[in-house]
Amino acid sequence: MAQLALVTGASSGIGEAYAERLARDGWDLVVVARRHDRLDDLAHRLADDYDIRARAIAADLADEGQVTTLIAEVAEMELDLLVNNAALAHYMPLADLPLEAAQSLVQLNVLARSS
Ligand SMILES: NC(=O)c1ccc[n+]([C@@H]2O[C@H](COP(=O)([O-])OP(=O)(O)OC[C@H]3O[C@@H](n4cnc5c(N)ncnc54)[C@H](OP(=O)(O)O)[C@@H]3O)[C@@H](O)[C@H]2O)c1
Repeated sequence: MAQLALVTGASSGIGEAYAERLARDGWDLVVVARRHDRLDDLAHRLADDYDIRARAIAADLADEGQVTTLIAEVAEMELDLLVNNAALAHYMPLADLPLEAAQSLVQLNVLARSS
């Protein structure tokens, strides 16, 4: 049976590249991000191209409740690898960063990663 990896932030950029590489190496995948249409396209394409099983789960990891729901869902799976890549950056002086943006950054980049 193939090994199973979960990649967060797989709808673009570095996470998508990780998902592609793992699929090419024969891993089954669970891909997670907010943009479900992109994730779904990716999961179908990787499953077809590399003859693996791939599943898309839409979740906003800056939302504590959605992280809790995802963790409960993932607890039912036999995961071999977690690529916890989803993240964001706000390129501006810290003093200019709106409170809400700072809170979602901490939730996504720090708290979701340690959940
Ligand atoms: N690219 C570089 O050269 C580089 C260098 C150093 C550091 N980094 C850092 O590495 C991280 C990834 O970079 P990247 O270039 O791959 O960025 P990216 O293309 O913007 O990808 C970020 C990924 O994270 C997901 N994501 C963002 N917010 C999310 C949320 N609230 N919940 C769930 N998923 C979320 C995005 O998906 P959705 O929008 O669909 O949710 C996307 O799949 C960023 O923090 C970036 O600052 C990048």
